[in-house]
Amino acid sequence: MQKAVAGLAFVLACGSAAAQGQVNVICSVQAEWCNMLSTVYARTTGTKINVVMKGSGEALAQLIAEKDNPKTDVWFGGTGDPHLQAAEQGLTVEYKSPSLPQLHEWAQQQAKQSGYKTVGIYSGPLGFGYNPELLAKKKLAVPKTWADLTKADYKGEIQVANPASSGTAYTMIATLVQLMGEDKAFDYLKSLHKNVGNYPRSGTGPIKAVARGETAVSISFVHDGPGEKMQGFPVETITPADGTGAEIGSMSIVKGARNMDAAKKFYEWALTPAAQEMAAAAKQFQLPSNKAAKVDARVPDFKKIKFINYDYAKYGASAERRRLIARWEKEVNALPR
Ligand code: F6P
Repeated sequence: MQKAVAGLAFVLACGSAAAQGQVNVICSVQAEWCNMLSTVYARTTGTKINVVMKGSGEALAQLIAEKDNPKTDVWFGGTGDPHLQAAEQGLTVEYKSPSLPQLHEWAQQQAKQSGYKTVGIYSGPLGFGYNPELLAKKKLAVPKTWADLTKADYKGEIQVANPASSGTAYTMIATLVQLMGEDKAFDYLKSLHKNVGNYPRSGTGPIKAVARGETAVSISFVHDGPGEKMQGFPVETITPADGTGAEIGSMSIVKGARNMDAAKKFYEWALTPAAQEMAAAAKQFQLPSNKAAKVDARVPDFKKIKFINYDYAKYGASAERRRLIARWEKEVNALPR
């Protein structure tokens, strides 16, 4: 009996020692990047890393559901707005990384405005993806402005993700509201709705559908184009001439994380130039937040894009996101197509 108790104590001791050597990550970028991060991190540090992949909106929903008993230590990637909401809702902890000064101003700003509960890890512009072969076959022009997408020619030819689950689609709504004013933006979204064939859950779904010839045009982050093209698919991207928004992909440490030390180690590692350069190695072309990280030639050139002055604090606030998505569900998604 004594032996059994001693055995149990030994197992418990090992269990807790092992627990310090692991980190649980929700990863909201594409699978290739998540897999590369976890393989390299496990190999180089000996830490066990458990990765669950979820879109930005779904990741936030999981953190809310786990609030009283968090199973996640770090939330890596996904658009910045839901990270700001997580910060506001007390789901993530303040952590001032010593690496902050090495990051671009936009990434530091994201940290500052969240009370250091999140940080920018990459950025990327919103725009359109299109399949040049399909457009030519259907005798459709390449859309150049937001207004172009509402032309009757594109009926059923456009895909954009569902804003309730996708940070990409929420970035679109917030961008249009800032560009046009709210009521005009909703009139626009209603016209666009007539041309939308499908609203998939994931932000990258639409550009993958474009690449595979399932739809002619998508509203997507343009950094998601080159990776599809590298796989041999006919896909190009363009940013709207009348102005667009950009995401600040972010990373946060979960409040009450069971593996807090391991979480901070992973977080620090993820901010290093070497870790950030892994994105391009995994065919992902967001702009890295560490100024010393090499920028791949396929990363969109921000200097050539007309950007709005995106108000990250306002559109990252929970009440605003909830309100805009609810308005979209009621006034846009409920309409017949
Ligand atoms: O991983 C590609 C990507 O476009 C990221 O840049 C972005 O943060 C994320 O997808 C958003 O995904 P979703 O729209 O599904 O939340």
